Amino acid sequence: MGLKVGLVGVGPVGDMIIRVLRERNFPIDGKIIVMATSERTEVLGGESFLVRKISAELFKELDLVFFAGKEGAQGASVQWGKIAVDNGCVVIDNGGDFRMHPDYPLVIPEVNMDAVTKDTRHICNPNCSTIQMVVALAPLHKVARLHRVVVSTYQSVSGFGGAAMDQLKDEMNQVVEGKVPETDSRIFAHPMASNCLPHIDRFMANGYTKEEMKMVNETRKILNEPNLLINPTTVRIPVLVGHSESVNAEFMGEMTAEKALEILSDPRQSPGVIVIDGPTGDTQGKDIRKDPLERQYPTAMDLKEDQYKDAVLVGRIRDDSTARNAINLWCVSDNLRKGAATNAVQIAEAMLERGLL
Ligand SMILES: NC(=O)c1ccc[n+]([C@@H]2O[C@H](COP(=O)([O-])OP(=O)(O)OC[C@H]3O[C@@H](n4cnc5c(N)ncnc54)[C@H](OP(=O)(O)O)[C@@H]3O)[C@@H](O)[C@H]2O)c1
Repeated sequence: MGLKVGLVGVGPVGDMIIRVLRERNFPIDGKIIVMATSERTEVLGGESFLVRKISAELFKELDLVFFAGKEGAQGASVQWGKIAVDNGCVVIDNGGDFRMHPDYPLVIPEVNMDAVTKDTRHICNPNCSTIQMVVALAPLHKVARLHRVVVSTYQSVSGFGGAAMDQLKDEMNQVVEGKVPETDSRIFAHPMASNCLPHIDRFMANGYTKEEMKMVNETRKILNEPNLLINPTTVRIPVLVGHSESVNAEFMGEMTAEKALEILSDPRQSPGVIVIDGPTGDTQGKDIRKDPLERQYPTAMDLKEDQYKDAVLVGRIRDDSTARNAINLWCVSDNLRKGAATNAVQIAEAMLERGLL
């Protein structure tokens, strides 16, 4: 017997949740109830759904609801999260509204599944940029305790929803035609095609953006390290799907690139991580050039491969030549999958395994 499952929101994350539930054969009883702000038919994950206008009545029929709606006061979780819980559902929420609330666990199953207890009814999925960095750093943190992290991100436009993907495609066509693309200022502050914008989400009084402060605050909460030093710069780049991050991490205990490579290459110590590093051709057959120093590393395009699509890919692991016990790494992950849908479904799977659902 499966669970009665609902989904709120039919953007790229909602679409991916349907795909991931099907791919992983998540046990579902009957049809998934899909909700949004209005009734219509939508194709999600290749299946046609009658999308229902969201209502309290619909939650009464459900055990588990994935929220993938817009954030904010008019958004899905603020408006409907408590109503879903009051009507007997467990909520797994992709939005950012409750992530920093002390009563709501913020969970990456590989890292802090113990934050979910038998009393938990509303679980938050961290932000996509946070998830991939923490999956890569948590195994190293366990061994040598992090002191300071400096991170720069290279984030795809799907992180800002379906409208941003359409906008980039439109602008790319304009660039190919030799035009300076016209942008839609409701989505990007400047043209996005052929450009990089050090601006994700709103600016805050301290000069950082909300996305940057999410990386700081969420990482501290997940690792239970309230004083961890984290210095982020988040950048939107003209890629449709897949975030990349350049991470410099300094540890309190002994850490070298060699040790980090060993830890991150061990799936028992580093669940969810796949290392793509070392000389080219030694494992991947990517012997593209003859330079003996040529190395392999992950890129967002690698996420199209089945074996990599749900992983955090790590490469460019090397010593920071300017500090002791400090390393650099490059990590890549699919923001719609591990950064959102896969992480949410993995939380539900882990709850089932632990008898919490
Ligand atoms: N994209 C990513 O990489 C990523 C990663 C991690 C987390 N997230 C988060 O996941 C959520 C979904 O992202 P997305 O990119 O798929 O968003 P999106 O393309 O903007 O889609 C939002 C969906 O939410 C629905 N919605 C908005 N307000 C609602 C309300 N009050 N009640 C019911 N439904 C409501 C919309 O319904 P209508 O279609 O009827 O307007 C729409 O289907 C966001 O909170 C986002 O921050 C996204």
